Amino acid sequence: MSMVNAGALWKVASGGNPLARIRATRDGLAAVRVNVGAAAVHTGLLDVLAGGDATTEELARELGAVDEALLLAFLRVTVSVGLLSRGEDRPWHLTARGRALVDDDVVRAGYEAFAGLHTAPYRQTAAMLGGGPRCRDMADQGPLIARLSAAMEPLVMHELTRTVRERRPLRVLDIGCGAGLELAAMLDAAPEAQGVGVDLDEGAAALAGRTLHERGLTGRATVLQADVRQPAGGRTGPLADTFDFALLANVIYYLPMAERVPLLREIAGLLAPEGVLFLVSTVATRQFFSRHLDLLLRCQGDGHMAITDVAGLVGQLTEAGFRADTPRAVAPGAPVVTVTATVPG
Ligand SMILES: C[S@@+](CC[C@H](N)C(=O)[O-])C[C@H]1O[C@@H](n2cnc3c(N)ncnc32)[C@H](O)[C@@H]1O
Repeated sequence: MSMVNAGALWKVASGGNPLARIRATRDGLAAVRVNVGAAAVHTGLLDVLAGGDATTEELARELGAVDEALLLAFLRVTVSVGLLSRGEDRPWHLTARGRALVDDDVVRAGYEAFAGLHTAPYRQTAAMLGGGPRCRDMADQGPLIARLSAAMEPLVMHELTRTVRERRPLRVLDIGCGAGLELAAMLDAAPEAQGVGVDLDEGAAALAGRTLHERGLTGRATVLQADVRQPAGGRTGPLADTFDFALLANVIYYLPMAERVPLLREIAGLLAPEGVLFLVSTVATRQFFSRHLDLLLRCQGDGHMAITDVAGLVGQLTEAGFRADTPRAVAPGAPVVTVTATVPG
């Protein structure tokens, strides 16, 4: 390859805004890479190769690909982002990076979500600003949201299990339990306790059931597919007796603003006097992720949703009858807090 000539380089560097051009290209290529990863998941390519190396013909058969030239182009781009490799005359092979996408479900959910529900609002902003149809992520993307939320688990787990050990509850409730990781951790931290997980989404409830089964906790917990906003009529079966510890992690902001205090009151009613609610929520700050989640919520078509700030969150807990402790960030500077709130005795 010939050397780039200095005149051409100068022309590139002095045309337009070179730094902004570099930024646009860098951000753009990152967005494309996310979409390549998501397509490698959605087509089933990574799962096929997780079962062993495969030739192009085998892949075409497994993926139902009828356009071999397009399949080859897709395989080559997947190699270029480091998910696959192929030596001379060798079959296609999953690299360590590709395997991480198959083996770590948070990574897989990340590619799926960032190529889909997390970026869709921006593709539709203009239409929505003009009154076009809104998103319905809670109804359409429940299991994916629950899977991605598991990324937050290590950040809250320490504080959650510390609080559970301190309170030694006998009945724990996980509202909007998603994949059930926190429910399992609470049961591990309180070996005498029985637990109930509730999730509105059928797929999420099934995931939680699987987690409990894998952790050998089936005999100590029940998962219900239910809307926890249901008034007292819903308090039958596993919800009939009061609880001494409830978790509401990464759920409150998925409710329309007007329904948050009523939900918290409902939870207070499920708790015994001096029962504790451990709440985890992203709060409104100027940080990118907080602002992004706020926009994502405001794009939903199921009522007015938004992120509240710390004072707003404490205000809602107080209005619902709780005595709230000072919220703590899950990591220094993170826009996610935990709050412990008690039902007065
Ligand atoms: C972001 S996920 C959080 C999952 C889990 N708590 C965590 O922190 O990893 C939110 C979950 O809340 C559930 N959810 C939302 N509204 C609910 C409601 N009214 N009743 C029960 N579950 C609800 C959703 O289906 C979803 O699984």
